[in-house]
Amino acid sequence: MSNVYYPDYLQLDKILNAQAPESDKHGVQAHDEMLFIIIHQAYELWFKQILHEAGSVIEMFADKHVDDNGGELNIAVHRMERINTILSVLVHQMDIMETMTPLDFLDFRDLLRPASGFQSMQFKILEARLGLRMEKRFGKQYYTSQLTAAHKGEIEALEKQPTLLELVNAWLERMPFLHAEYWPGRERPFFDDLQDLYASTLVKGEEGNAALWRTIFVEGSPERNLSPAACRSALFIMLYRDEPIFQQAFRFLQGLLDLDTGMASWRSRHINMVHRMIGLRVGTGGSTGKAYLKGAMDSHYIFSEIADLSSFLFERRKLPTLPDALKQAIGFGR
Ligand code: HEM
Repeated sequence: MSNVYYPDYLQLDKILNAQAPESDKHGVQAHDEMLFIIIHQAYELWFKQILHEAGSVIEMFADKHVDDNGGELNIAVHRMERINTILSVLVHQMDIMETMTPLDFLDFRDLLRPASGFQSMQFKILEARLGLRMEKRFGKQYYTSQLTAAHKGEIEALEKQPTLLELVNAWLERMPFLHAEYWPGRERPFFDDLQDLYASTLVKGEEGNAALWRTIFVEGSPERNLSPAACRSALFIMLYRDEPIFQQAFRFLQGLLDLDTGMASWRSRHINMVHRMIGLRVGTGGSTGKAYLKGAMDSHYIFSEIADLSSFLFERRKLPTLPDALKQAIGFGR
């Protein structure tokens, strides 16, 4: 067996020879272009790792066998936590970018047109795999306009695959604990009791939430990504999250919300940096710059319907205890 050699293992000859500043090619002095290239490459490497983790979670949910009380959900939670830790580092990495001043950037900016982070395939793949569909995109005419035909085709093919959001919806729908068989002897569904308990906690100004309850948990709406059955399960998990069997499911839902917040923090940090760097100019990718990025930040949350469910929580002390039969049946007693 041959010895593994550090530079070969990491293919450093490729990575460390992959910086080719445009300013060198044009004989222009632009010291900071090296930083600009390296920071984008570092981001792309971390995007690759995020996709690796997110892809494995998607696979687990796609096989329809995520055991809510077992190892697989635990692994999914752990990988989501890793993604979220990487994202928080990526937000702070903008500090390094900001050591380059707008004037330093102008030394080479025009040489980059029409290249832009907007052509980052990995970023677009991540958004698409998580659940951002074309019709929900801000500026959808522009979205793939800057890509090569091959990359455009790749994104269009991905649009046909199930997203993490859709798989999470199906996983929540499969949860059995609200099925009538686990609540013998009841005259009406247990979830209606929760609705009454919630309604009794409404304060002035929240009257409209009772109608929202019907839309979210009973009727559904074509505007929404999560079905009423999925939302009922998610709310149940959020309310009964202290029960051992729901702890991992709850952490997983939290992980999805952290992912949304992490992406939004990155977008916000990027926008602030972009504003300082180019003011109100258009981007090298031809968008309106800051205005486009702000629109994308506000409308590209993926799991916000889960965050909405917090509207329907109420105090723990008011929660009915779960019947023993249910606990036994779905495994609490084991
Ligand atoms: C001098 C630094 C930077 C400037 C001035 C800048 C500017 C912009 C602008 C104006 C856009 C909108 C598209 C366009 O018209 O070009 C954009 C998009 C984007 N940039 Fe940057 N950027 C910078 C650094 C970075 C870095 C370090 C990354 C890390 C990968 C990055 C990733 C992205 C991504 C992923 C998008 C697409 C965002 C979306 O569609 O929501 N940018 N950038």
